[in-house]
Amino acid sequence: MRPLALVTGASSGIGFEIAAQLSARGYDIVGVGASGRIGTLQSELEKAADAATPVGTVVPVRADLSTAEGVEHVWEQVESLGRHLDVAVLNAGKSLGGSFVDTDLEDELHMLDLNVTGQVRLAKHVVQTMARQRSGRILITASLSALTPTPYESIYGPTRAFTYAFAQGLREEMREYGVTVTALLPGATATGFHHTAGMDNTVFGSNEWKNDPAQVAQQGVEALFAGKDHVIGGNRATRRAALLNRVLPERVKARRFAKDSRPTPSHGAH
Ligand SMILES: NC(=O)c1ccc[n+]([C@@H]2O[C@H](COP(=O)([O-])OP(=O)(O)OC[C@H]3O[C@@H](n4cnc5c(N)ncnc54)[C@H](OP(=O)(O)O)[C@@H]3O)[C@@H](O)[C@H]2O)c1
Repeated sequence: MRPLALVTGASSGIGFEIAAQLSARGYDIVGVGASGRIGTLQSELEKAADAATPVGTVVPVRADLSTAEGVEHVWEQVESLGRHLDVAVLNAGKSLGGSFVDTDLEDELHMLDLNVTGQVRLAKHVVQTMARQRSGRILITASLSALTPTPYESIYGPTRAFTYAFAQGLREEMREYGVTVTALLPGATATGFHHTAGMDNTVFGSNEWKNDPAQVAQQGVEALFAGKDHVIGGNRATRRAALLNRVLPERVKARRFAKDSRPTPSHGAH
């Protein structure tokens, strides 16, 4: 039987590319997305596959991972397969751009529910299952934003800092069970992410200069199978930015970040 991978945020962007690469490595996929487009996952994976590696079983699950019910629904689908869970990719997430003075508190709390609470809820199921199995590999998508203050995305960055620290702590706990935990820290990547965050009117809003999601996914998947603690996702400039984020003072990093995240009339249509 083929191995099984759970991938959240599999309908687009980095998560879709991760699902495609796991599929190419012979994995069956349980793919989770919030909207109806997860329904086309099987056909999209088939389009992305090469003829030599046919796509296996694909189980699309539509669920809102910001709610307890959504997470339980996903987990029921995984359990109903009655199979060993070999890989779990906790990747779904979103941001919200703008000055904290102006942004909507409910939107921010929803983001916390998805990026933090929902991730912890799902991780509990995954970790307990893999501990029982005494095997498994977990990939958690954090961000380069975990390493810097993120003005004009002032709640998003801290959610990814949580994710990164959470992954590193879990990694140590899971060693005795033979389970690896790897954090993927992408730099800015050309997906629908910044548009969804309402950031078209920022430097981040343009996809022209950003990383290729397929490259970021490949770096994540390779690090997952190498059992690394973390990997930076992106090109040379992104890896350089990661190094700078390790040494520059917080106030300097905050200024640098704001240049790309601050809404300006000269960017986008707004
Ligand atoms: N793009 C970047 O610049 C960047 C940089 C660093 C880190 N990241 C991280 O990478 C991860 C993936 O982002 P991406 O760039 O690939 O963005 P994306 O293309 O917007 O994909 C987001 C995915 O998450 C799903 N999702 C959104 N809200 C959800 C909810 N409430 N419940 C379940 N699923 C939900 C979406 O489903 P639908 O398609 O159905 O809405 C979609 O599959 C995120 O965790 C993000 O923080 C992104």
